[in-house]
Amino acid sequence: MPLTLRTARVGDVARISKLHADLWRDSRAAFFDAEFIEDPLEAAMVAQWQELLRGRKRPGQVVVAMTGHQLEGFANAVLAAGTAQIDHLEVREKMRGRGIGRSLLGLLAQRMRQDGARAATLAVPAGAEGLARFAKRFGGILGPVVERERVGHPMPERSIAWADINRLIGACATS
Ligand SMILES: CC(C)(COP(=O)(O)OP(=O)(O)OC[C@H]1O[C@@H](n2cnc3c(N)ncnc32)[C@H](O)[C@@H]1OP(=O)(O)O)[C@@H](O)C(=O)NCCC(=O)NCCS
Repeated sequence: MPLTLRTARVGDVARISKLHADLWRDSRAAFFDAEFIEDPLEAAMVAQWQELLRGRKRPGQVVVAMTGHQLEGFANAVLAAGTAQIDHLEVREKMRGRGIGRSLLGLLAQRMRQDGARAATLAVPAGAEGLARFAKRFGGILGPVVERERVGHPMPERSIAWADINRLIGACATS
């Protein structure tokens, strides 16, 4: 089945929340206690994605990659003072390495440029492997570790920053 990329709809909240919770149960397990990591984590994800997707006046853009009805990845951004603040970029583990992350990032950045973004940042987990390589690949600058609140929990993250969003869009278009 071919991969399609599109804007997320409110009907995608459940599938995005489930994939997001499943990925974080694995990649961010260290930040949650045993009780929260089960149902409460997914409930918190539902609340977060509903906030981003419901209503006509959404706070930003959310894009998804699908094969048929299966969600393979997602990304979201909000506009803050002319900067596209990309908070989540995630691809289903077994689908990684096929260009889905790059395509999602490129589409999201284009949408955010249409909405008025001139610069961009991408939040990444502080301990992720290959961060410097990833930042370099996309022409961004990797920032210091900062503590952010995610689903009510403090998490160490870093940001990759692009002073010019066109640099990010161009890097996503280069395969
Ligand atoms: C980061 C993520 C979204 C990439 O998605 P993906 O679909 O595997 O990425 P792509 O196949 O589109 O790869 C895009 C480019 O990024 C590079 N890349 C991907 N993951 C990387 C990693 N972990 N470290 C370094 N480079 C990476 C690839 O080499 C590729 O470069 P190329 O186009 O020159 O070949 C995915 O690995 C993911 O969901 N990770 C969990 C969240 C996370 O850790 N994010 C932090 C970013 S490092």
